[in-house]
Amino acid sequence: MDNTFYVTTPIYYVNAEPHLGHAYTTIISDFLARWHRLDGHRTYFLTGTDEHGEKVFEAATAAGTDPQSFTDRISERFHSAWERLDISNDDFIRTTERRHKQVVRQVLQRVHDAGDIYQAEYEGLYSVGQERFVTEKELVDGKLPEDAAPPERRREVNYFFRMEKYQPWLIDHLERHPDFVRPAAYRREVLGMLREPLGDLSISRPRERVPWGIPLPWDAGHVTYVWFDALINYASALGFPDGELYRRFWTSARHLIGKDILKAHAVFWPTMLKAAGIPLYRGLVVGGYLFGHDGRKMSKSLGNAMDPFEMAQRFGPDALRYYLLRAVPYGSDGKVGVAALAERYNADLANDLGNLVSRTRTLIVKHLERRLEAPRQTAADQPVIRAGVELLGTLRGQIRDLKFNAALEEVLQYVRSLNRYFNDQEPWRLAREPESRARLATVLYNVVEGVRIASALLAPAMPGKAREIRAALGLGPVTFGDLERWGGTEVGGTMPASAPAPFPRVDTRARRAPSETRPEPKKEQEKENEEGQVAEGTITIDDFARVKLQVAEVVAAEKVPKTDKLLKLSLRVGDAERTVVSGIAEHYAAEDLVGRKLVVVANLKPAKLRGITSEGMILAAEDDAGQLALAEVPGEFPSGATVR
Ligand code: ME8
Ligand code: MG
Repeated sequence: MDNTFYVTTPIYYVNAEPHLGHAYTTIISDFLARWHRLDGHRTYFLTGTDEHGEKVFEAATAAGTDPQSFTDRISERFHSAWERLDISNDDFIRTTERRHKQVVRQVLQRVHDAGDIYQAEYEGLYSVGQERFVTEKELVDGKLPEDAAPPERRREVNYFFRMEKYQPWLIDHLERHPDFVRPAAYRREVLGMLREPLGDLSISRPRERVPWGIPLPWDAGHVTYVWFDALINYASALGFPDGELYRRFWTSARHLIGKDILKAHAVFWPTMLKAAGIPLYRGLVVGGYLFGHDGRKMSKSLGNAMDPFEMAQRFGPDALRYYLLRAVPYGSDGKVGVAALAERYNADLANDLGNLVSRTRTLIVKHLERRLEAPRQTAADQPVIRAGVELLGTLRGQIRDLKFNAALEEVLQYVRSLNRYFNDQEPWRLAREPESRARLATVLYNVVEGVRIASALLAPAMPGKAREIRAALGLGPVTFGDLERWGGTEVGGTMPASAPAPFPRVDTRARRAPSETRPEPKKEQEKENEEGQVAEGTITIDDFARVKLQVAEVVAAEKVPKTDKLLKLSLRVGDAERTVVSGIAEHYAAEDLVGRKLVVVANLKPAKLRGITSEGMILAAEDDAGQLALAEVPGEFPSGATVR
């Protein structure tokens, strides 16, 4: 099996600051790099910045600086963004570096020597935003949808690369290598492009118009077209043509890109390599667009870009990474936002993962003198054991298929099953009886062992938090060793006496970006106004006022015997106490509820459930996957307060 893995991000234009779209591709690349490193591959991970071209030159001019100091400054911003997001790149290449320019000249010379470059007059429409010629057909209202400005008409002498000559060869390559462009939808898109005549590629700009670029080796009056320059970074960074890294890694290259730059990578780049006599990269891995709050492709020029620094500041880099990997099935487009991140954070990280770690730790610290003991497994322990040791294999398949969101969901499903196991085994109850000590130790060992596996598999997505969670439970550094065997957690080690909660809950209502607070649709209300009558399904204020909602403090909670679902809650509502039976036992442990302030329907007719009279109902939200979140009010709120 091929054990070498070279992964690259696009090198980003330094015309503007990094935004969340750039962070998205970089995070996915980092996820893959970390995954392969942990899974035993010789891995090399490259990112960098694309610093030549008209767009960057214009931005520098507009900023009133010379292009080199301008690019120095913005390149540094990308560098620090990736540091902030814990990106583990092995190198960071800038196209203004000598090592790169020298290779670009070599490659140009090779293609020139092969007779594949000629000079001609060219006339066409050019998009500076996308740094490419465009056709009339692509324009909507006179411009590309992703651009702020219309394209410019150009008529000038350029050098051309005989790209069309390689069209049949490229079609053949795509047909022989179904994995060359993935997901498959993008491969079909490329084959579609290749059904039309390709034309040749303009690869130079007159120096008097664009002074910022690499001069052609045979004609210093022209500079290299920015794409012909930029693509070569993937090889120049490895020390093409005879560097050690180049020899070791080049042919295993996987280029991660967004679909905006598919043609450059799937058509320009392989034909350039072929003409220069360089072996091809292994494959392209193509992602869709993140949309901003306005439903358009997030980009600086459209003014809907989100700031990765700000989001990492607010939620931590790991939560942001996790969210972006989960938010959209890879390859598809998807909308992202702060509110969705906060919800995902609370549901998966604070509730499912964070709580599990905290309550397991609490019991081990309190009842096992902070030390794990050798487990004695029973039949009841087998399901979590079996599911745990199968995870790595399942994830390998999903990651091979680019199903990153499904892979993370798989681990979270497992974390949820550990929570259910914890709830079913009731370790807090076992801790009360000295004779159930061995069982208590077994249950807690198994939960820690499950978290050992889950945290290792989450480490490529959340390297910092994986480390933190493992430290809190006394586990060593992340490895993929021993993930397919139960029992890798050592017995007898001591865990720290205190550890911070790994994912403190965030308030999902506060500090929403103003642009994201859309007014609720007022459809029904409008209907009433227009027609002077109430539309079907609506209720009046008076109907609603008949429901009495109050804040209730949980003073005690226990499982209803012989059921899986029911908890018996003793609630304080103002001065009165009442009992409510609630079907939330699969989602919340009794002990975790005490002290929380919930919302109760206070004037519901009492009902008998399992012989217990239930006096009311508590409110919770339920999502499509059956996940529950209790409606809660902040702890300082007095019980008995009215909710309206
Ligand atoms: O194209 N959603 O650089 P660039 C998802 N320099 N991904 C996005 C995105 C969005 N809204 N916006 C940007 C260039 N990206 C060239 C590349 S490579 C030899 C040269 C990501 O700064 C996505 O990966 O315009 C996209 O392909 C890349 O940023 C474009 O970055
Ligand atoms: Mg772009």
